[in-house]
Amino acid sequence: MKTIAVSSFKGGTAKTSIALNIGATLAKEHQKKVLLIDFDAQANLTAGLGFDPDEHESMASVLQKKRPLEEIILPTCLPNLDIVPADTWLERVETTGTLASDRYSHERMKEYIANLNYDFVIIDTPPSLCWLTESALIAANYSLVCATPEFYSIKGLQRLSYFMHYIAKRHPLELLGVTLSFWNQRGKSNDAFLEVIDTTFPEKVLNTKIRRDISVSEASARGKPLILSAPKSRASEDYVMLTKELLSRMSSGFTNE
Ligand SMILES: Nc1ncnc2c1ncn2[C@@H]1O[C@H](COP(=O)(O)OP(=O)(O)OP(=O)(O)O)[C@@H](O)[C@H]1O
Ligand SMILES: [Mg+2]
Repeated sequence: MKTIAVSSFKGGTAKTSIALNIGATLAKEHQKKVLLIDFDAQANLTAGLGFDPDEHESMASVLQKKRPLEEIILPTCLPNLDIVPADTWLERVETTGTLASDRYSHERMKEYIANLNYDFVIIDTPPSLCWLTESALIAANYSLVCATPEFYSIKGLQRLSYFMHYIAKRHPLELLGVTLSFWNQRGKSNDAFLEVIDTTFPEKVLNTKIRRDISVSEASARGKPLILSAPKSRASEDYVMLTKELLSRMSSGFTNE
């Protein structure tokens, strides 16, 4: 089982869209058994798959030892794709109940995930280096970093890089790659962006870029992955390519080099 934490220090870098659409592509095109975990109180991943966050229990109940993880997993519109939804309780979960007094509360997520039986677990994290993001990175074998082609997005990557190095000292965590979304193939500063990212994360920028495409937000408004709602859209094509690239990186051991 491979666990991937999708993260970025900044908001609006397409973390949720990437987690959702990579998960759906792995399930539909590659027949992988996938669990998505919405680990952000905004619950956009939950809503993006058509669920009402107020109606379901989240990872918060599991972390607080109120419900077993298996009981809160929901099936989605795709046969091999399940989700653990989010709710607003996640926001400050570490400050309440049994977590507040646990020095090792960050390790709990890892322990719960270890017992699951999926090919892939994909964790969507909030746009900050908070307790939730740290727990997700500790639980993961791989991190996938999201960025947009804007200088302030790319500057935030430096801080994320320090944070991931700090975690990787104690837990085996590999950076799978850096994905750029909202990509404009004719952008004048593209080379400059790629160069800056390469200095922070050498040789980690993924070849596949996700182009700007209105179908991404239309699909989440419909509560469906792009591969079902607009499979011929350019962003859907990009997600299919990105998923292939990620699979080949994981199988070739490229990330260990
Ligand atoms: N390739 C794309 N083209 C156009 N719109 C996109 C694309 N990717 C994502 N979006 C839209 O941009 C917005 C932000 O994307 P998303 O929610 O995935 O980012 P995020 O990094 O998860 O945000 P947050 O930091 O708030 O969690 C959403 O409305 C989404 O539908
Ligand atoms: Mg998000």
